[in-house]
Amino acid sequence: SSTALARIGVLTVSDRASRGEYEDRGGPAVVAYFERVLTSPWQAVRRIVPDERPAIEAALIDLCDREGCGLVVTTGGTGPAPRDVTPEATEAVCDRLMPGFGEAMRAASLLKVPTAILSRQLAGLRGRSLIINLPGQPKAIDECLDAVMPALPYCLDLIG
Ligand code: MTE
Repeated sequence: SSTALARIGVLTVSDRASRGEYEDRGGPAVVAYFERVLTSPWQAVRRIVPDERPAIEAALIDLCDREGCGLVVTTGGTGPAPRDVTPEATEAVCDRLMPGFGEAMRAASLLKVPTAILSRQLAGLRGRSLIINLPGQPKAIDECLDAVMPALPYCLDLIG
């Protein structure tokens, strides 16, 4: 429905940012993106967790089920390093995956950087919420959101 974008969950996944050793740049980049493109009023619900599956899964469940976010965007933890587990946590809490989102984001990103192939980012549905993984870098965030934004309102209409 049209209210699906009224509350957007923004989950930063980063060991260092969660410990306060490093300033979170991903979360603010996601917020800035939607501030630029959305025309109706909306609210960001932000969380920061370490690269740990239980913490990521709990935050995703909270944002979807308790906070009522129709869209939840994660940033970070999608690469091939041993501690990158955001896609696994996302898959665990989703009822169904939406493979087109990961495909579109990687395809668009690959036109800019060859290392885009390293992101295992995915998207899926949990109830009436859509969860989308983004890489951690602010530049990657803009490029990935540009790739999926045109289809986002229709997707939220269909699941809401
Ligand atoms: N996608 C875009 N558009 N731009 C980028 O610079 N960086 C890549 C990739 N996707 C990148 C990108 C790199 S270097 C990595 S390791 C993976 O995203 C995973 O990043 P993450 O671990 O921060 O999620």
